Amino acid sequence: MNILNLDKFSVQEINEILDLAEEFKNGKEVDYKGKKVISNLFFEPSTRTHYSFDMAALRLGCRTQNFDAGNSSLKKGESLYDTVKTFESFGTDAIVIRHVDNEYYKQLEGIKTPILNAGDGTGNHPSQSLLDLLTIRGEFGKFEGLKVVIVGDIKHSRVAHTNFKVMKKLGMEVYTSGPLEYKEEGYNYIELEEILDKVDVVMLLRVQHERHQTQMQETKEEYHKMYGLNKERVARMKQNAIIMHPAPFNRGVEIADDVVECEKSRIFKQVQNGVYVRMAMIYMALEK
Ligand code: CP
Repeated sequence: MNILNLDKFSVQEINEILDLAEEFKNGKEVDYKGKKVISNLFFEPSTRTHYSFDMAALRLGCRTQNFDAGNSSLKKGESLYDTVKTFESFGTDAIVIRHVDNEYYKQLEGIKTPILNAGDGTGNHPSQSLLDLLTIRGEFGKFEGLKVVIVGDIKHSRVAHTNFKVMKKLGMEVYTSGPLEYKEEGYNYIELEEILDKVDVVMLLRVQHERHQTQMQETKEEYHKMYGLNKERVARMKQNAIIMHPAPFNRGVEIADDVVECEKSRIFKQVQNGVYVRMAMIYMALEK
């Protein structure tokens, strides 16, 4: 099966994927004994998603191919479709793709090999969202009724777009905040100061300069002062509230250096959970 976005998954199905990820976390063993190959095709830079899918595949006993976009025939004008069709023709068993185009997978409708979306433009980031959900469920044991504020560059964030939809579907109360220039209409905008002490999860986002046509209005220092999570703001959060960030993060901009690994931060827990979620996704791609 493909996993391209989370729109088609019901609440029960999302929980079932998380259950499977949790089984892997608790030691479930699957060993394809090198007989399955997973091809990682990253047309955009990535550290976490790329190497976490790679680690997940290795943990399942798969072998992996890691496409080097910069030294590929993309440079000779080869299209996305022809590149993916080439890997399918090699006989790979599943293809993990990150690409700058929103819903790039619509260009791949003739491909029969399972595709796992590792992020499309500003659209979807299903594996990130699932690892975020695994982290939240692990922390609170539920979704229904939890309050979350996603803070930052909402407009350019596939994490915000994916999480806003799926978290609402799961019964969470979802707010967004940050600079007005990055506000997304219909995304329940609120001033950070108004909501900070009421939420269970503060999810920070990086300002995604690579997607901007114009320069950010604020300096990094101004951004940090207005929206950055510093020790003083952390002290105003609810006692059991947690801090999340998909990373990469910019220390001293959206998050203070001394908050990155503070007691409320689950940022590296998210990275750990990413491997289990991606093991579940690869297993589903190969078995369903
Ligand atoms: N969170 C995330 O998608 O990080 P990378 O861009 O490093 O994969």
